[in-house]
Amino acid sequence: MDHFNYRSGELFAENVAVEDIARRFGTPAYVYSRATLERHYRAYDDALAGRPHLVCYAVKANSNIAVLNVLARLGAGFDIVSAGELERVIRAGGDPAKTVFSGVGKQRWEMRRALEAGVRCFNVESDTELDRLNEVAGELGVRAPVSLRVNPDVDAGTHPYISTGLKENKFGIDIAEAPAVYERAAAMANLDIQGVDCHIGSQLTSVSPFLDALDRVLELIDTLAKKNINIRHLDMGGGLGVTYDQEQPPQPSDYVTALAERLGDRSLELIMEPGRSIAANAGILLTRVEFLKCTEHRNFAITDAAMNDLIRPALYSAWQSIIPVTPRNDGDEKHWDLVGPVCETGDFLGKDRKLRLQAGDLLAVRSAGAYGFVMSSNYNTRNRPPELMVDGEQVHVVRRRETLEEQLGPESCLPE
Ligand code: LLP
Repeated sequence: MDHFNYRSGELFAENVAVEDIARRFGTPAYVYSRATLERHYRAYDDALAGRPHLVCYAVKANSNIAVLNVLARLGAGFDIVSAGELERVIRAGGDPAKTVFSGVGKQRWEMRRALEAGVRCFNVESDTELDRLNEVAGELGVRAPVSLRVNPDVDAGTHPYISTGLKENKFGIDIAEAPAVYERAAAMANLDIQGVDCHIGSQLTSVSPFLDALDRVLELIDTLAKKNINIRHLDMGGGLGVTYDQEQPPQPSDYVTALAERLGDRSLELIMEPGRSIAANAGILLTRVEFLKCTEHRNFAITDAAMNDLIRPALYSAWQSIIPVTPRNDGDEKHWDLVGPVCETGDFLGKDRKLRLQAGDLLAVRSAGAYGFVMSSNYNTRNRPPELMVDGEQVHVVRRRETLEEQLGPESCLPE
């Protein structure tokens, strides 16, 4: 459930008419709902109450500082994949001691920065990364808290680009090899083994792959215990899907309850890294129709938002719901391809959408709160859109619209 709903024939974001937002701040624009973010975070946190846990929101899904701050105020932890994301967490008032550091390519300076800041744990993805982390921690005279990200070889049944838990993926350490790698880690002077981590993919719509992964990881934890390697936390990663179209993913509460049941009375702390299921349906991309262009073959509505603003449809053929901000009763319903002004055939937000449209109409692309703005670019020298956060009756600009000067400023010509 989210807080983007129609009221007397007009789309509202919480208590604000979306037409008003467009009038005040222009289009295209990302619009987030604070209440929705909070609701989704609490769905995890409440369902885990009563057992040791930490919900580490995956910053990559939507890293706007205001979004992180809203979650930090609720006590959230964070999952980061770069030193840049760490600085965002710190600036947003997040706690490094509740922050886990994931990613296959951590650089030395990033490790150093994370150790200085005091992150909760490094999710290490390879043998060679262990060596590097051991060295960097030694240089600083500290012990680095470590989990190994294991690859449990389960098929998440999701899009191949976002499926990560199979043997052929670049992520993690093969679970069969994990005991040997843990033994190496245990022998390193500057590492402190804390946990086991896995993340099998994104936009999963059923719990069974998660439960399969959990079974395999629990088996590993038992094997390690026999070798006197004591695992204190289990990080199940992110990956729970959302409803973009007809999908019916489990609710976060159903998912974590299933995990908790399987964990029984083990004293392991459960860490989760949800991104999409917290942020996706807490945001829309607001766009205006510039022109209608009807040809013999297709009807095109050219919008002021494009693939540089929201790349998921072009990149993954992702389907996101597109709805009119103020639905019309006049004119004929037609099938429209909603395309942007970028010079690429792949530049579309949606295809074959049945709508009553006129030039100047406002549309909302739903489920755009995750992997939306964060994946935007300046392709075609387009300024990136602003990000706005609705909180009840208020609208806050949490990132203003980019200017051409900001885009062009860092560039220069060759000397004469
Ligand atoms: N933890 C790790 C280690 C991850 O790699 C990811 C996402 C997450 C947590 C959060 O997963 P989520 O709960 O959001 O599924 N750009 C793609 C999604 C890429 C996901 C990458 N990893 C998209 O737009 O669909």
